[in-house]
Amino acid sequence: MDHVIGYDLARGLHIIAVIAWIAGLLMLPRFYAYITASAPGGELEAAMLKAAGNLRMIILAPSLVLAWAFGLFLFATYITGDWNRPIPEVLATVPHWFWGKLILVLGLSGYQGFLSAEGRRLTRGERRHSERYWRLMSEVPFLVAIAAVLLATLEP
Ligand code: HEM
Repeated sequence: MDHVIGYDLARGLHIIAVIAWIAGLLMLPRFYAYITASAPGGELEAAMLKAAGNLRMIILAPSLVLAWAFGLFLFATYITGDWNRPIPEVLATVPHWFWGKLILVLGLSGYQGFLSAEGRRLTRGERRHSERYWRLMSEVPFLVAIAAVLLATLEP
């Protein structure tokens, strides 16, 4: 059967998008740490606020969309064939690890929403968290990414 793009190409593009996504999620809270440590109204604060905004717009938003798009494309290949079966029957063919991974990636997506809201607060000059808090938060996506990758590769 001919496809617009093949499974292995989609897998490669999925991984590329995921690399950009996780890299952005690791960087953004570090920018927030620099902002929190900077003098309010100063040059460093302005520069880091701009860098954080660019990172969200240019890297994070597109890579989230692409990681989801290619991921859902790969997911759809599990259930191609007979789309007319009852939904519970279709869902029963989905491997169990996928549901674990889905929870993790929903968590990462929600985390990005939280970071965007916090970024808008920092832009308004509201500093609700410490520098240390943001340094710790920058480690979180890495731990989740380890679990997501091992679920996808070991398929336990
Ligand atoms: C955003 C939502 C995501 C969806 C819907 C999704 C879904 C999928 C699916 C269905 C596959 C095919 C697995 C297979 O080979 O059978 C896959 C592959 C893969 N995913 Fe995701 N994924 C998502 C995000 C992520 C994230 C955040 C990571 C890493 C942090 C990740 C890492 C991987 C890796 C490494 C593979 C290749 C595994 C392999 O081919 O052995 N994915 N993904």
